[in-house]
Amino acid sequence: MGRLILVASGKGGVGKSTIVSSMAVALAGRGLRTLLLDADVGLRSVDLMMGIQDKVLYELADCLSLRCTLREAAVTHGNFPLLHIMTSGQDARPKDFEPKALSRVTRTLKERYDMVLVDAPAGIGRGVKNFVPFADEIILAATADDVCLRDTEKMAGMMMESCGKHPWLIINRFDRRYVKQGLVREPASSALALDLPLLGVIPYDESVYSAMVQGKTIPEGACAATAKAIDGICDRLLGLPPRRRGGLLGQLFGKEREGV
Ligand SMILES: Nc1ncnc2c1ncn2[C@@H]1O[C@H](COP(=O)(O)OP(=O)(O)OP(=O)(O)O)[C@@H](O)[C@H]1O
Ligand SMILES: [Mg+2]
Repeated sequence: MGRLILVASGKGGVGKSTIVSSMAVALAGRGLRTLLLDADVGLRSVDLMMGIQDKVLYELADCLSLRCTLREAAVTHGNFPLLHIMTSGQDARPKDFEPKALSRVTRTLKERYDMVLVDAPAGIGRGVKNFVPFADEIILAATADDVCLRDTEKMAGMMMESCGKHPWLIINRFDRRYVKQGLVREPASSALALDLPLLGVIPYDESVYSAMVQGKTIPEGACAATAKAIDGICDRLLGLPPRRRGGLLGQLFGKEREGV
């Protein structure tokens, strides 16, 4: 049985779609059958980011109302045969997603895929609440500033209250210069303050945007440190031990340093 991983955020624009698309490519590259589901009803973006926009004939909303099969709605990525992508419904509304039908569909998806990665819309609206009961893991993506962290804390509280699940935290677009200037905290200390386990830290990297406009994800187009951060996140999610640095220093110190 596969796992459904819900990637959400309190604030919009923190990098959820970028992170989840990159994780999907990394996981499929490791031989895991992966479904990337864009749950942003009416505002999909993953199809464009993954370059499959012309292949979307059916969406999740069509599967829920039995207009098509799940196989018909899942588009295979051109470069990664194990990676399938599904959008939710450009003309649908989150309230049309009936819990019983969604439960049936998510169960089947978990039988067919090792990983079902759900890119949620920002905030705690119906679009994200629909998927919370079926999530095996919830990841909250955030940036390191207090404005974003306050929303993240609120979101985490609401999620724990509604389903008892303890979310992971990813800090994205991290720039150490702001820590040195005393403007933001170290990610580990933010995670501690929010009482959320830190799944990973992704550096601010201009090549992420240029990769995105070329239809590439972080593992395919961004700088090596950023790709390494995505790899570390996948490792932790899969319960793999931290990778060791090569050479004597790596063997002495063991722990891999975050790519920041
Ligand atoms: N680590 C990073 N470094 C630099 N830019 C980044 C990074 N991660 C994401 N971005 C850029 O930030 C912007 C927003 O990213 P993205 O669309 O993934 O956010 P989102 O959380 O999915 O937004 P929304 O809430 O609207 O769905 C994009 O232009 C993306 O290229
Ligand atoms: Mg998005």
